Amino acid sequence: MKIAVLSDVHGNCPALRKVLEDAEKRGVDEFIIAGDYCLSGAWPDECIKTLMEIPNKVMIRGNEENYLENLIGKDQSAWTDGQMQISYYCFRNIDPGRLDYILSLPHTTEFERNGVKIHLAHSSVSFIGDHEFAKFGPAKLSKKYIGTDNTSEVLRKDIHGILDADPGFAEKADGLESGIYVFGHSHVQWSYKSRNVLLVNPGSCGLPLDAIKDSVPYSIITISAKGETSVEEIRIPFPMLPYVEELKKTTQYAEANVWTKVIIKELVTAREHLYYFLDFAEKYAEDIGDDRRPFSIETWEGAYKAWEDQMIVEAESEKIYLSESCDVFYVKEKNIVLVHWKKYCELDQYRKPLECALKVIKEHPGCNYTADTRDGFEDNPLDTKWVAEYFMPKAKEYGCEIINFIIDKNNSLKEELEGQEKDSSALLKFRYVYGLDEI
Ligand SMILES: [Fe+2]
Ligand SMILES: [Fe+2]
Repeated sequence: MKIAVLSDVHGNCPALRKVLEDAEKRGVDEFIIAGDYCLSGAWPDECIKTLMEIPNKVMIRGNEENYLENLIGKDQSAWTDGQMQISYYCFRNIDPGRLDYILSLPHTTEFERNGVKIHLAHSSVSFIGDHEFAKFGPAKLSKKYIGTDNTSEVLRKDIHGILDADPGFAEKADGLESGIYVFGHSHVQWSYKSRNVLLVNPGSCGLPLDAIKDSVPYSIITISAKGETSVEEIRIPFPMLPYVEELKKTTQYAEANVWTKVIIKELVTAREHLYYFLDFAEKYAEDIGDDRRPFSIETWEGAYKAWEDQMIVEAESEKIYLSESCDVFYVKEKNIVLVHWKKYCELDQYRKPLECALKVIKEHPGCNYTADTRDGFEDNPLDTKWVAEYFMPKAKEYGCEIINFIIDKNNSLKEELEGQEKDSSALLKFRYVYGLDEI
């Protein structure tokens, strides 16, 4: 029999529907759904409704269901803080009967299929302690995969390498009763088979944080009639920018604006940001002497503005800039600053990431500049002038020698790029390549 396993939908109903369609095509017999249904995407009610319609399923609660449970019977006129608006939005937008349904689900459960016991809990902590979060949780991965677009193969190899080298994990796994252990919560897709047990985390089908962009994961467990088990990890293409555009049109975007903007950063980069933002907001509140919790609207919005203004996240001493239109990374092994344009940008949207790139060049002697122009660039004569008169001379002054342009096969930006080269070829050497591997 085939069991589709999914988790952490987080209100992303378009992604949930894609996963369910795919699973249906593959002829699964049953679903396991491991919690965190609502917060962050703007379609919590639709998600629950869609999940309730699945005929054969085992569902449990996640930790984020608690935020909604805690609001039952509370005085809504007191909901004036900034931080919790996402929970209030969800609470107000879920049908009470459907809210009752998810709150009636158990936190953990166990059942048997073809003689194999399946243990289900929202977090791996219930089974293997802190071994997942301490070694390859989303905050760890967001630092590990700086400057690279991750793939399932790399992720699998890295996680297996970490677990194989962790004697504490082996001890935990060996101590478990034999069977299959299913959990979510980390938003990282992985699985591991040891002598007695198969551990399966399907990742988050609504908000993946394993640095694999523009796709959503789920897993299929197969259990033969004799009780042999295997797992297939699936990722379905899911372009995030169109989803983000839809998210921006919702009332959630207006009502829980800061939270949703942080989530948008997570969606487009497939990396943890909320953890860093909450940490930043805490320090920001301390600095301004504000001890109100949850954060007031002014403090919450002020913290976001300060965080976004700098848009620089300290990640293992490297500076990175992450936004919806552009990501800037320092790639240590190549000593380059990589600027990935994700759409056409102009003025501040174009210049802020380049200011960040200049800081990176200044801090790393001999660091060269690389622009990935395959998904976007600039197209404003004012910016072309700014690049020629400010950016290129500054890059040269800080030690940059080479400007690399990663171009698409048709070189569709030929005119614009050659224009930039012509303006600055006396200062810097220009190279055109088709991929980062050529640098
Ligand atoms: Fe979650
Ligand atoms: Fe969770």
